[in-house]
Amino acid sequence: MSLFRSVVRGTGSALPRAVVTNKDLEARIDTSDEWIQQRTGIRQRYIAGDGETTVSLGEAAARRALDAAGLVPEDIDLVILATATPDNTFPASSTQIQRRLGITKGFAFDVQAVCSGFVYALTTADLYLKAGMARRALVIGAETFSRIIDWSDRTTCVLFGDGAGALVLERQEGDPSGPGVLISRLRADGSHGDKLFVDGGPSSTGTVGHLRMEGREVFKHAVGMITDVVEESLEALSLTPGDIDWFVPHQANRRIIEASAKKLGIAIEKVVITVDQHGNTSAASIPLAIDHAVRDGRIRAGDLVLLEAMGGGFTWGAVVVRW
Ligand code: ACO
Repeated sequence: MSLFRSVVRGTGSALPRAVVTNKDLEARIDTSDEWIQQRTGIRQRYIAGDGETTVSLGEAAARRALDAAGLVPEDIDLVILATATPDNTFPASSTQIQRRLGITKGFAFDVQAVCSGFVYALTTADLYLKAGMARRALVIGAETFSRIIDWSDRTTCVLFGDGAGALVLERQEGDPSGPGVLISRLRADGSHGDKLFVDGGPSSTGTVGHLRMEGREVFKHAVGMITDVVEESLEALSLTPGDIDWFVPHQANRRIIEASAKKLGIAIEKVVITVDQHGNTSAASIPLAIDHAVRDGRIRAGDLVLLEAMGGGFTWGAVVVRW
């Protein structure tokens, strides 16, 4: 029997033009560089300006991923965009990225699992490819959280940034020890919906709304949820944390990342950390971090890469990929 795998062919990312440092925020709200760095590890974030949107950032990341893969838009027959900040309520922003790229075949849709969006999207793409419903997928995480932040709420506005990242995945016939997505584990528990949410929406208020978060509550649950789903994934593959070459967690907060790595027994040198540069870019954070680590030569062919995320809902999940 043939074994099909979803293999990563290329990665790309894009950031808005404007960098906003913690010092810049000090001038606008009652906060300090020291508080932000100590609590979160964030030093700066990129904020979308005029003409920069989830679709434009997603398109730019997708083009770079296609270039890295040596492919052109016509080679793609599936576009999945993970986002909680689409340009419009509908049509799905994935279809507008598809249009801008000039892709006319296949299908496109958005996935909404907030910060876990990219692991949900990657898992979904993997299943479509393995099922033979598509041959090559663009899996994109793109967000403009700056547009749903309450800039007068210092407890949340310092945490988030904008950006996009993308992977090209290809269905390939392969051997069990070869490259490709090896396993995914996804979870959701809507009983935590009131801990991290947006207080508006098309069907409730008719407005976009603003992000609200009980930061301590999120923090309290994050490490346990993340490590459970990672341990389950590794166990199913008969792997141990020591087998992992690179751990690319969702970049919400350096303290959550360090505590998760420590609990899992993964050395901090093997953890890709970009939260200091980008802040929390929600569904974009993992593909952004992956692209940085691929381009600076850390993630290489053959490496075992562990991805995980947790976010609003709550939703959470892990994916293990052989590069
Ligand atoms: N600048 C200065 N002081 C601040 C700021 C700020 N930006 N924000 C809050 N404070 C103050 C508070 O008012 C409070 O002051 P008080 O003691 O006088 O009342 C004090 O700092 C402590 O506030 P806490 O909220 O208790 O601070 P905590 O240590 O819990 O840190 C934080 C807050 C960073 C949000 C933390 O709870 C956290 O990291 N939570 C996880 C959040 C997260 O990562 N969410 C995203 C994950 S899911 C996703 O990605 C969507």
